[in-house]
Amino acid sequence: MSYNNLLTEREGLILKITINRPKQLNALNKETIQELNHALDTANKDQDVGVVIVTGSGEKAFVAGADIKEFADFSIEKGQELAAKGQEILFDFMEFMSKPVIAAVNGFALGGGLELAMAAHIRIASDNARLGLPEVSLGVIPGYGGTQRLTQLVGSGKAFEMITTAGMISADDAHKWGLVNHVVSREELMPLAEKIAGKIIKNSPNAIHAAIRAINANNVEGVDGFEVEIEEFGKCFGTPEFIEGTTAFIEKRKADFRK
Ligand code: CAA
Repeated sequence: MSYNNLLTEREGLILKITINRPKQLNALNKETIQELNHALDTANKDQDVGVVIVTGSGEKAFVAGADIKEFADFSIEKGQELAAKGQEILFDFMEFMSKPVIAAVNGFALGGGLELAMAAHIRIASDNARLGLPEVSLGVIPGYGGTQRLTQLVGSGKAFEMITTAGMISADDAHKWGLVNHVVSREELMPLAEKIAGKIIKNSPNAIHAAIRAINANNVEGVDGFEVEIEEFGKCFGTPEFIEGTTAFIEKRKADFRK
């Protein structure tokens, strides 16, 4: 499948998706959001994809936000619809995927761009990255989950500061704040993403999906994450992958979960 605004590349079990609108700093217009939904949905259903890496094309930006030119004349209703649809088909969709998504943040990650990175399971950044939620400078607030995910990741004090000042923080500050896991040079960014992905794909796909469900339960209002963990833990015992994992340990060999 070829896309107008994405490049996709598969190497073994790793799918790399590059958002490819460099002239617009990879801003998320409607078509790009739909294409990302399609690419992620396809990856989710494909047993030959174990991890997805998402990055931005060009030297400057991961994603500089939702496409401002597309929503500049929206009404209240259309604004609500934009946020609801985007959250449903991209941001929540990504968070609840069955396989991990690594955001390789290679430059500006602003507004919807930072929201996209925050919907991923793992974030790493290059040292030139600048992160922020500048929406209040446009007279609007983050609408793709930013008020919620930023608060979960860095706490309400830092979230208030970032959102109300509309400022950008450096990759190093994002690292100190726990917003990204690692900061490396631009050249090292993709090799690091691939190294992390390489470790993940050695493990049980079923257990990884169960872990995603259990970890995500921590963020769902009214759900007891400990109960979800107990349930998911128990379900693992009924899978061939559990038998393979434990048998391989006892037989002192590497488990092969994808045979
Ligand atoms: N939407 C649409 N176009 C964008 C864009 C965006 N979010 N960000 C950048 N662009 C476009 C610019 O309009 C410009 O296009 P033209 O050449 O046709 O004028 C091109 O990308 C290059 O951008 P700049 O010339 O501005 O580049 P710069 O290096 O001077 O500045 C920047 C870089 C600081 C990132 C600046 O582009 C900027 O501030 N962008 C907007 C960031 C922003 O406010 N993001 C939040 C969007 S709202 C949102 O995301 C809502 C939500 O949560 C749902």
